[in-house]
Amino acid sequence: MSKLRIGFIGVGGIAQGRHIPAFQTFSDDCEITAVSDVNKDRAQEVADKFTIKHVFAEYKDMFQHVDAVCICTPNKFHAEMTIAALEAGVHVLCEKPMALSAEECEKMLDASKETNKVLAIAYHYRFMKNAQAAKKMMQEVGTPLVTRVQALRRRKVPGWGVFTNKTLQGGGSLIDYGCHLLDLAIWLMGSPKHIDVHGSTYNVLSKTPNSVNQWGSFDHETFDVDDHVTAYIKFENGASLLLETSWAANILDDQEHVSISGVEGGLSVFPLELYSTKNGMLMNSQAAWIPGEENPGVEQAKNFIDTCLGKTELVVKPEEALQVSQIIDRIYQSADK
Ligand SMILES: NC(=O)c1ccc[n+]([C@@H]2O[C@H](COP(=O)([O-])OP(=O)(O)OC[C@H]3O[C@@H](n4cnc5c(N)ncnc54)[C@H](O)[C@@H]3O)[C@@H](O)[C@H]2O)c1
Repeated sequence: MSKLRIGFIGVGGIAQGRHIPAFQTFSDDCEITAVSDVNKDRAQEVADKFTIKHVFAEYKDMFQHVDAVCICTPNKFHAEMTIAALEAGVHVLCEKPMALSAEECEKMLDASKETNKVLAIAYHYRFMKNAQAAKKMMQEVGTPLVTRVQALRRRKVPGWGVFTNKTLQGGGSLIDYGCHLLDLAIWLMGSPKHIDVHGSTYNVLSKTPNSVNQWGSFDHETFDVDDHVTAYIKFENGASLLLETSWAANILDDQEHVSISGVEGGLSVFPLELYSTKNGMLMNSQAAWIPGEENPGVEQAKNFIDTCLGKTELVVKPEEALQVSQIIDRIYQSADK
């Protein structure tokens, strides 16, 4: 079978830091043959650095030369580029969030169904070893009741790129960071449908000049996205989820936490722990070693390649990424009200 020819649209931080090296790990099955970026110098530099043959100024020109694309541009462009690629008969791995709004995500999903092409969204937390092991352990948790999700960074607003620009990204800490752990938690819960969403968002940093920030600096006057978000989500099976996310929390330290309390037992993902009852006792089990690939980006690339080659199914289905975007929309709408 011939190799899957992959092109990149947008070759900034995440393309160079995660996806290009991950795909190049699988040189027997795929070849990155083309890159495109509005910053043409960057596109050429990346092509030279990673030995990629073709550089296209206009991303649509690459479609006839590739079988799949990885879209790594700001969120505003995800829908337009994904739909154009799918309609040209090209599979897509699109960075998260799926798009700026659920409405755009629905159009992307429709395009993938109509063209019968693969549409994957890069919610890479699902490919972490702890996450994969937790998914297998969910049978010991039983029906999920209450899920707690915390994606909290202490003073780490990304000071580079366009992360604090609402027009290009659609939001801040929730759409950029909290979305990962929200996606992971709902997948572990078995992807129940949400029925009710309440949220609060805060935008304190837009009013705070010279904020102490560990990840570079940003202009508070143009900072127009959320820095803290809390939400309560209710699902049709009765389960509920409490979400807290922030880029700039005044807390002791960063926290990534997903825990699920179910009918039979409970678990926490980071670190991986199982809480159960046995022989009349309360038992806690901790994973001492988890097999598998350390780099979730590599597992994500493998799943995408194998799905495009018809060997397996997507781990992150576009319908599931759509639900994450629907919930994000509803959190922002609830907060506005
Ligand atoms: N999965 C993760 O953990 C993770 C982490 C970081 C970023 N991301 C996502 O990846 C995407 C890109 O983020 P990044 O950090 O690489 O940003 P970046 O700013 O470093 O890179 C974006 C690149 O896209 C290019 N670009 C912008 N508009 C374009 C257009 N219209 N056509 C072609 N190229 C265009 C820019 O010139 C730049 O090179 C975003 O959607 C972001 O949310 C995901």
